[in-house]
Amino acid sequence: MTKREWSAGETDVLARAIVRAPSVHNIQPWRLELPDGEAKLFERADLTLPHHDPDDRDRSISCGAAAANLEIAARVLSLRPRLWLLPDGPDSDLVARLSVEGPGRPHENDLHRYTAIARRHSYRQPFAGPKLSSEDVADLAAEASGDDVHVRPLVGDEDVDALAELLDYAGAVLKNDQGYQRELAIWTIRDERSRSHGVGLASGALPSTSLPWAGLVRVRTALPDRAVLARRLAEETVLVFATGEDGRLAHVRAGMVMQQVWLGAVRRGLVAAVQTQPLHLSEARRRFADRLSLDAYPQVLMRVGRPSGEVPTSPHRRPSELFAPPE
Ligand SMILES: Cc1cc2nc3c(=O)[nH]c(=O)nc-3n(C[C@H](O)[C@H](O)[C@H](O)COP(=O)(O)O)c2cc1C
Repeated sequence: MTKREWSAGETDVLARAIVRAPSVHNIQPWRLELPDGEAKLFERADLTLPHHDPDDRDRSISCGAAAANLEIAARVLSLRPRLWLLPDGPDSDLVARLSVEGPGRPHENDLHRYTAIARRHSYRQPFAGPKLSSEDVADLAAEASGDDVHVRPLVGDEDVDALAELLDYAGAVLKNDQGYQRELAIWTIRDERSRSHGVGLASGALPSTSLPWAGLVRVRTALPDRAVLARRLAEETVLVFATGEDGRLAHVRAGMVMQQVWLGAVRRGLVAAVQTQPLHLSEARRRFADRLSLDAYPQVLMRVGRPSGEVPTSPHRRPSELFAPPE
């Protein structure tokens, strides 16, 4: 294994890739250390969402997305990285350790994915038609490379109705859950303040007020009836990311694959938005998996399609903030 130090330029490339990753409520729950020519990505246990994410599942999925960006960034630096997930065990804050095995040559796909990192953002608006073809969907699913993560497109009326049922039920429950709504409000930040904050959901990035586009049900979100919801969903492409296990390693892996597919969509000129909110209601999650005959745990839902225009984005932390010591 080659011992080397990261140059200032390389450090910047790695850090910028990580801070651009998607995260639950845009909490950006990660920290980076670069000792002895390695990169260590830590999950910040001080950032919690007790109502939305009581088991920290989404936080680990978010770290998986950041780990995917880290690996891609190392490749475009012409390095041959090796990534270990949870190398100190499932309870450690160390999510990923990346070592450099020597010089490498980035694959064309790495370069495409890398440029997509900065262009990716959540698209909480209806898409422009037409819907993606089954070949396009298969191409996207082929972007996934990770053990134990299944990418399952929703196909046909029964699948669509299963999702409409899930969103309809979860929407009604969460809209009236005051603790949940308070937490969401705390993490939703006025646009002008969000620029200095760099974390949290910018209110402008939540333009839609109806499902499925809204992505997060708030007090004022309209809940269309199930038939309308099913009709809207039938016009979109939805992918379900599911894992055979439901532990922390599975969550990190799901996040990596989610990000690979999302970047694959962006490099094809597509846009996407993910949703985990309804999957935190365990009964509803189980019923959804049963109706889809999924012998796996659904972790993330992703809508993907063609952009119908520009949408406002949420800001991200400055790269230097990644290196702050744990609080
Ligand atoms: C694990 C995870 C769960 C998420 N869940 C939701 C969700 O339920 N609804 C939603 O609208 N967005 C969800 N998001 C998207 C984040 O809110 C978004 O990534 C973040 O605000 C940063 O914005 P950006 O994606 O535009 O960079 C989720 C993202 C991740 C990684």
